[in-house]
Amino acid sequence: MSATSITAPTTYGTVTKVFHWLTAALILAIIPLGIIATDMGFETNEQLARKAQLFTIHKTLGVAVFVVALLRILWAVSHAKPGPLHPERRAETLLAETVHWLLYASLVITPLSGWIGHAATTGFAPIWWPFSQSLPFVPKDDGVAHLAESVHWVFGKVMIATLLLHIAGALKHHLIDRDATLRRMWFGRTATPQVGYHRTTIAAPLAALLIVLAGGGTAIALGGGDAPEAETAALETVASDWTVQEGTLSIGVTQFGSTVTGSFTDWTAAIAFDPEATDVAGEVTATIAIGSLTLGSVTDQAMGADFFDAATHPTATFTAPITRTADGYVADGTLTLKGQTAPLSLPFTLTLDGDTATMQGQTTLDRLTWGIGQTMADETNLGFGVTVEIALTATRAP
Ligand code: HEM
Ligand code: HEM
Repeated sequence: MSATSITAPTTYGTVTKVFHWLTAALILAIIPLGIIATDMGFETNEQLARKAQLFTIHKTLGVAVFVVALLRILWAVSHAKPGPLHPERRAETLLAETVHWLLYASLVITPLSGWIGHAATTGFAPIWWPFSQSLPFVPKDDGVAHLAESVHWVFGKVMIATLLLHIAGALKHHLIDRDATLRRMWFGRTATPQVGYHRTTIAAPLAALLIVLAGGGTAIALGGGDAPEAETAALETVASDWTVQEGTLSIGVTQFGSTVTGSFTDWTAAIAFDPEATDVAGEVTATIAIGSLTLGSVTDQAMGADFFDAATHPTATFTAPITRTADGYVADGTLTLKGQTAPLSLPFTLTLDGDTATMQGQTTLDRLTWGIGQTMADETNLGFGVTVEIALTATRAP
C-alpha cells in the first residue's frame, strides 16, 4: 500500500533508526566472529579456549540480535516509513525492497537456526546468561543439529550476500546519486524531499521468505546429508555365566563449566556372579569399544591423540572381583584405558528377580590418571572428574 500525505514521514523514525544501527553493529561483529571462530584451529589448550570464547560471544550476540530482530519487525509492520526516493526507478526500488526483506528473513532464520543447532547438541561454547542453552521442542538429536547447522550456513551466506548489496546500494545513493537515502536513515534532522510513504505489508516478506526457503532447501538438499560414520569393528560377543540383555554405559565430562554426557554403544561384559555368596560374589571383565562413543559435539575431538587416542587404543578393559558391601556390591579392580592400567572402584546396587539381575552403578574417575587430555592440565576447558554410569539387565545362563 502506498499513499502521499502532507504528514507523511520524510525520514525514518528514531526507534527505527536505533533498531537499524543497533542491528547493523551487532551483525557486523557477529559475522566476522562466526567466520574466524569456524576457521580457527584448536591444537593447543589456549587455542581451544579462544575458539570456544569467540563462539560464545558469536552465539550470545546472535541470540541478542534475534530478540532485537523480532521487536524490530513488529515495529516495522506497525509503523509508517518514508516511501522510495525514486519510485520511477522501478527495478532499483524492487531490488532494494527485496534486499530489505531478505535481510529481515535472514535476521530471523540465521540466529534461530544457530540456536536450534546449539540446543540440539551438547557441549562446546555455551551461550551466556540470560539466554537458554536449550529450546522448547528441540531434542538433543544429531539429525536436527545437522539440519539446523546447514540452514545456519545457508542463511549466513544469504545474509552476507544481501548485506554486501545493501551497503553497496547505500553507498551508491550517497556518493553517486548524492541523494538523501543514507541521511534519512541517519540521526538528526536532515533536508529530505517529501515522498509518498509506505506501510510495510506482509505480502512482500512472505514472498521473500518463500524465495529464500526454496533456495535454502535446494542448497541443503544438494550439499546436505549426514557425514559418513567412522568405521569401527564391532566387539565379539563373550561367553559369560550372565548374559547382558540390555544396558547403557555413559560418561559425563565438564566442558567450559557445562556437563556434556555421552555413551558407548558397543561394549561387552563377562560376568560370573553368585548371589548367595557372602564375601566375594564373582568377577567381571568389561570390554569397551572406544570408537563407539558419542559425546555431543566433541565426539571427534574425544577420539584424538590427546584424548582417547582411539586409533592406537581401540578398546578399554575393566576387570574386577565383585564383593558384597553393607549396602550393595563393589567391583574393585583395574581399568586399562589408553594403554594405562590403574585402580578403579565401581560401587553398584543389584536387584534379582529369578534369573534376571538389574544392576546400576556410578563412579567418578580422574581423566589425568589415564592420560586423557594431558595438554589440559587445569580445569578451565575440561574438568578432571569424569562420571561413569552403568545400568544393565542380565540373565543367568541356564
Ligand atoms: C554499514 C552498514 C549499513 C548501511 C550503510 C545501511 C544503510 C541503510 C539505509 C541507508 C537504509 C534506508 C534505505 C531506504 O531508505 O530506502 C537502510 C534500510 C534498511 N537496512 Fe540497512 N544499512 C546497513 C546495515 C544493515 C544491516 C546489518 C541490516 C540487517 C541485517 C540492515 C537492514 C536494513 C533493513 C531491513 C532496511 C529497511 C528498513 C525498512 O524500510 O523497513 N542494514 N539501511
Ligand atoms: C544473526 C545472527 C548470526 C549470524 C549472521 C551468524 C553467522 C554465522 C556465520 C557467517 C558463520 C560461519 C559459517 C561458516 O563460514 O562456515 C557462523 C557459524 C556458526 N554459528 Fe552463527 N550466526 C548468527 C547467530 C548464531 C547463533 C544465535 C548461534 C547459536 C546459538 C550460532 C552458532 C554458530 C555455530 C555453532 C557456528 C559454527 C558452525 C559450524 O561449524 O558448522 N550463530 N555463523
